[in-house]
Amino acid sequence: MSFSPSSQIVCNLPRVTIVGAGRVGSTLAQRVAEKNLADVVLLDIIAGMPQGLALDLMEARGIEIHNRQIIGTNNYADTSGSQIVVITAGFPRKPGMSRDDLLKINAKIVVEAAKNAIAHSPNAIFIVVTNPLDVMTYLAWQATGLPRDRIMGMAGVLDSARFETFIALELGVLPTDVKAMVLGSHGDLMVPLSRYATVNGIPITELLDATTIERLVERTRNGGAEIVELMHTGGAFFAPASATSVMVESILLNQSRLLPVAAYLQGEYGLEDVVIGVPCRLGCGGIESILELTLTDEEREGLRTSARSVRQNIERSQEIIRNS
Ligand code: LAC
Repeated sequence: MSFSPSSQIVCNLPRVTIVGAGRVGSTLAQRVAEKNLADVVLLDIIAGMPQGLALDLMEARGIEIHNRQIIGTNNYADTSGSQIVVITAGFPRKPGMSRDDLLKINAKIVVEAAKNAIAHSPNAIFIVVTNPLDVMTYLAWQATGLPRDRIMGMAGVLDSARFETFIALELGVLPTDVKAMVLGSHGDLMVPLSRYATVNGIPITELLDATTIERLVERTRNGGAEIVELMHTGGAFFAPASATSVMVESILLNQSRLLPVAAYLQGEYGLEDVVIGVPCRLGCGGIESILELTLTDEEREGLRTSARSVRQNIERSQEIIRNS
């Protein structure tokens, strides 16, 4: 018995490229494939590593019940025609290191990855995950020359999920009933908006006293470092991958979710020529719009301080790129 010759119909299934097959990249590949969102190309410079991970994920397909292709490669030609490119390549933090310490090492890696990826997927939407996240997104924006709606950084969804987790743990409620938004840079200067955090619509300010909220805010600011200190080698990857997959999903399924996303600002919130986390509507075109919330003086000052620190690191990064 044999199948009759196939028709010549070419199926263009959505394809997501993930650059960097470390723990965040490979967990994201798993999430995207197992949520049945797209075929995945997992690229890394280490020979054999992405191929091995892809084969392992392919072998799980029958058990996980999906039919997405996962390709592992060291060659950017295999990434061509991707709808989304996620850049996770680079080094993670070691205990005691800030995300900014990573600036020098990761700048070149991200610029090269962005240039190579855009050459093969000129219509893709880019999501940058490598730290220091806001600066790396700026560098990738420069390197690709993409319009700002098609390039963004992942961090706000992760920081908000952490804040929501800590609120849920404190109150003993279901995490999905908690909604919160964290703006600003992905670092110690992030801006958790406590007064907008709710449990099924009830502001947390009605449920928790100010000292407790401040403790949860501090834990959120320190959320990444807390895990680095515990693990000693590398940092968080499950929640970062989940947070990125939510952004991928909102874009691929055109869900128009309102999510905190690191976006290039051109005057919003009084900020210019900087990438920072703000509420964005994410759909098939990428960032469909940026929501400008009315902030209190304290929140606005927090966002400005955060932006100033990103701006300083952008300037440092420009020097690094010039001298490289
Ligand atoms: C963290 C890394 C991804 O916050 O920045 O865990």
